[in-house]
Amino acid sequence: MTTPTISRDRIKAIAQREAAAFLSARPRSAELAEQTEQHYLFGVPLHWMADWGTPVPLFVERAQGAHFTDVDGHQYADFCLGDTGAMFGHSPLPVAKKLAEAAFTGYTAMLPTADAAQAGHALTERFGLPFWQLATTATDANRFVVRWARAITKRKKILVFNGCYHGTIDDVFVDLDANNPSAPPATRASLLGQVYDLTQFTDVVEFNDIKAVRAKLASKEFACVLTEPALTNCGMVLPADGFLADLRNACDETDTLLVFDETHTISAGYAGYTGLCDFKPDMVVAGKAIAGGLPCAVYGMSAVIAQRMREAKESAPPGHSGIGTTLSGNMLTMALLATNLTEVATPKAFEHIINQQNKLSTGLRSIIKQHNLPWSVTQLGARSEFQFCPTSPKNGSEAEAAMDAELEQAIHLYLLNRGIMITPFHNMTLVCPDTRDEDIEHFLNVFNECLTELVTN
Ligand SMILES: Cc1ncc(COP(=O)(O)O)c(C=O)c1O
Repeated sequence: MTTPTISRDRIKAIAQREAAAFLSARPRSAELAEQTEQHYLFGVPLHWMADWGTPVPLFVERAQGAHFTDVDGHQYADFCLGDTGAMFGHSPLPVAKKLAEAAFTGYTAMLPTADAAQAGHALTERFGLPFWQLATTATDANRFVVRWARAITKRKKILVFNGCYHGTIDDVFVDLDANNPSAPPATRASLLGQVYDLTQFTDVVEFNDIKAVRAKLASKEFACVLTEPALTNCGMVLPADGFLADLRNACDETDTLLVFDETHTISAGYAGYTGLCDFKPDMVVAGKAIAGGLPCAVYGMSAVIAQRMREAKESAPPGHSGIGTTLSGNMLTMALLATNLTEVATPKAFEHIINQQNKLSTGLRSIIKQHNLPWSVTQLGARSEFQFCPTSPKNGSEAEAAMDAELEQAIHLYLLNRGIMITPFHNMTLVCPDTRDEDIEHFLNVFNECLTELVTN
């Protein structure tokens, strides 16, 4: 069987047809879009909400568990789950109940509560790191971690991996040149209003390239390596066997901190990817889903790092540390964090979501194979990514080279019009504790129909 060619004309035709169908079936979304156009820049509260490739934004009526309904009454099985914020389901019941209860007992006092004690215990029990701090978003948590790392090591540079994303923390937006591997790293061209040369203090190498890591860290100029244990924002790149252990050693040998951003890779299991390693990172960041999808992020650290942080704080002059925001760790957040950690994101929930993703990934692989397409499916626990390359990419450059925005858009619209939502930016699918077998079967049937249309000449 020969590999089918998917013609650009066919992709365009499907995308156009699906866009027209989307619009005609969603008059209420179109009507609301006219209203929001008048008040919001780009017509939406956050400009990313206009990045879905739909002719008008999709307005949501309500979301519950693994499903949501739009304002025109269409129902969807949600495999995007707010790009991870809702990975434990929309409005998980214990969190919703706690939210209702806590609504009348105060939101923010800049003081700890009994829930803080419970959440701290739950975080340590889960990730095995003894000390924690709160932030309101994963972006902020990463920003604070980088500040702490620089403060305690008294080094200015950080090392990241090509294709990484850690939120809108400026320091990490440094890229290798895909067309010229020997060119020096450059500040990401798409950044708005960025006036500093980020390459001054941030360096970047390819993921899974331990030689390149060692060559950089040897200078002992780096405060930390900040990375997801598997890259999940440029498609998906899993760590090669032994890479993370080698990275741990390279950091130890050069007194460089190793920071795992587990905001997405918590999909790997109860304690994220950290739980799968036989070593610990120095610091761990988690956000998005950690308090059931409400604004909250955490960062944890080893006892040794905590001690160095205390010393740095104590030896600094009194005044602003540049770390923290007023609403971080507020009373309401701590109540929801404690509830989500102890009652929702349980080992049983992880068993279910990983099992469901196994079924989805296996199904996707088999349909891709049936159509003889040179695509692959890469899975990390409850999360997977289908990518337009025959084997899973080994680094950010390979992952980005496999992207095809036009093809993605055609597939995403096709799925959306048939009640399946996946992430808009690449081809990520995530399952939650409420994802049922019927949702997976429906997804697979629609995916199969879509590929049949794409490859038919
Ligand atoms: C790995 C990772 N870290 C941090 C963030 C930032 O999260 P937030 O936008 O909630 O600050 C993201 C966002 O996608 C992410 O993917």
